[in-house]
Amino acid sequence: MKKLLIYGCGYPSMPSLIKYWNKKKSQKWDVAGYIDDVKFGKVDTFFGLPILGNEKLIPKFVKEGYHFFNNVASSTDNMKIVAQKLSKYKAKICTLVFPEPPNIDCETVYIGEGSCIFPDVFLGTDVHIGKNVIIRQQSNISHETVVGDLCFIAPGVGILSRVSIGEKTFIGAGAVIRDNVTVGKNCVIGMGAVVTKDVPDNITVTGIPAKPIRSKTYDNTTLKNPSEEKFITNR
Ligand SMILES: CC(C)(COP(=O)(O)OP(=O)(O)OC[C@H]1O[C@@H](n2cnc3c(N)ncnc32)[C@H](O)[C@@H]1OP(=O)(O)O)[C@@H](O)C(=O)NCCC(=O)NCCS
Repeated sequence: MKKLLIYGCGYPSMPSLIKYWNKKKSQKWDVAGYIDDVKFGKVDTFFGLPILGNEKLIPKFVKEGYHFFNNVASSTDNMKIVAQKLSKYKAKICTLVFPEPPNIDCETVYIGEGSCIFPDVFLGTDVHIGKNVIIRQQSNISHETVVGDLCFIAPGVGILSRVSIGEKTFIGAGAVIRDNVTVGKNCVIGMGAVVTKDVPDNITVTGIPAKPIRSKTYDNTTLKNPSEEKFITNR
């Protein structure tokens, strides 16, 4: 068994998902608890698991041989901040890929470190998933599609073939993206949107067919100073 800490209380279901993983897979994870920069010192436990520390304790846990899973769900910006912290401390990263053939073509699908591909996800031939990507249950990513680093794909999303999604883009529940479309980086696709045309970087789109509703503006100081606990929300 490898020792695991969950960084961030984003999905309360993550420990039970890992229990399910341990029943199915030969590599097992022993979850010790959470690291959480916001909750540590305020509450002791989160859905039954202890909150053991904040960022300051990462070096100690790294020395003790723990792996970490980035479980931040508030925004892709915050996913990036936590990924940067873990990289700074040279933490070992846990990658969780639940789907098995025929729902994933192991010969041609690439999945980057730190990603979590939930059960009931379909990944077609020649799909490339970047690092630290979350793909929630019942999403379908069709062939020859590229998903950039730090993207979050909510449940029930349909991404058709030869689509490109830029890094740090958030795709809301049940959205559909037409084949051959390019979605830029840092975009937000609203829940239920049907995206029929390319979406430029930093744009939020909603509706059927999807139309821009706003441009996302960035608090770059947050990204320049990842130790600062200044969480922002982009969805
Ligand atoms: C698109 C989204 C990010 C916008 O959130 P927001 O910035 O808080 O925007 P608001 O709620 O203020 O909505 C702005 C306008 O867009 C409309 N709108 C918001 N989301 C919409 C959507 N998905 N489809 C159609 N219209 C939408 C609102 O009704 C509102 O319209 P109005 O100005 O006429 O009243 C958000 O609504 C969304 O879809 N989030 C995804 C949630 C999700 O899938 N989570 C998954 C968790 S696992």
